[in-house]
Amino acid sequence: MRLPIIAGNWKMHKTVRESVDFARQLMIAYAESPDRRVIVAPPFTSIYAVAAVLMGSGIHVAAQNLHDKQAGAFTGEISAAMLVDAGCEYAIVGHSERRALFGERDDVINRKLRAAISFDLRPIFCIGETLDEREAGRTFTVVERQIKEGLNNFTADDIKPIVIAYEPVWAIGTGRTATPEQAQEVHAYIRAVMGKIYGDSLAGLLHVIYGGSVNPGTIGGLMAQPDIDGALVGGASLDVESFVKIIQF
Ligand code: PGA
Repeated sequence: MRLPIIAGNWKMHKTVRESVDFARQLMIAYAESPDRRVIVAPPFTSIYAVAAVLMGSGIHVAAQNLHDKQAGAFTGEISAAMLVDAGCEYAIVGHSERRALFGERDDVINRKLRAAISFDLRPIFCIGETLDEREAGRTFTVVERQIKEGLNNFTADDIKPIVIAYEPVWAIGTGRTATPEQAQEVHAYIRAVMGKIYGDSLAGLLHVIYGGSVNPGTIGGLMAQPDIDGALVGGASLDVESFVKIIQF
């Protein structure tokens, strides 16, 4: 049994005050429930304040990115150790916006995943194809490459804390959600690839969540699919009411 995970990726939104207000309202609107795991990923500047508000609430905090080194002369970067210190339990790694806008390649993502797990920061490892890749029939090839290169040299123990987020790039921020069947097809493939590498029993425990224009109207259909274990939500996670509706799918 895989506990559903609903994670909100705030991207570059919300000041500290707005983030804290959101966290307080979320705690009021959502009573902790043992049958799902809720995560919010504020911008770096709000992590400490949000984690302090949410402490003991059963709602978890994620970072949206991290650097792969522990410390050093890396102006503008944040390490896994710093994120844990600030109150994070999770970190989004390899989001398509990081890949496309900031040039993060699979080898960089591999190092970031390694850094995260070394500090007990659970990675939310994002993979997904672009529209061109889907239209060229390359979806499976692309996600398989992203998995194999991202998890290069990872043992079965290493992958246990990892959550995989399948986020087709063409569905992110576009209002164009993959149909539940389209998403399920890729989620099943991801689980099969992980099964081939790490064995079916471990792959059966792995969380594979979906992201890309998820909203209160689409979450139910997605969650009804056997291999969809939750959602990584962008735009619709910025508003407490819509985020809570998604949590309570
Ligand atoms: P979206 O973003 O829900 O706004 O499409 C999802 C994501 O990028 O994680």
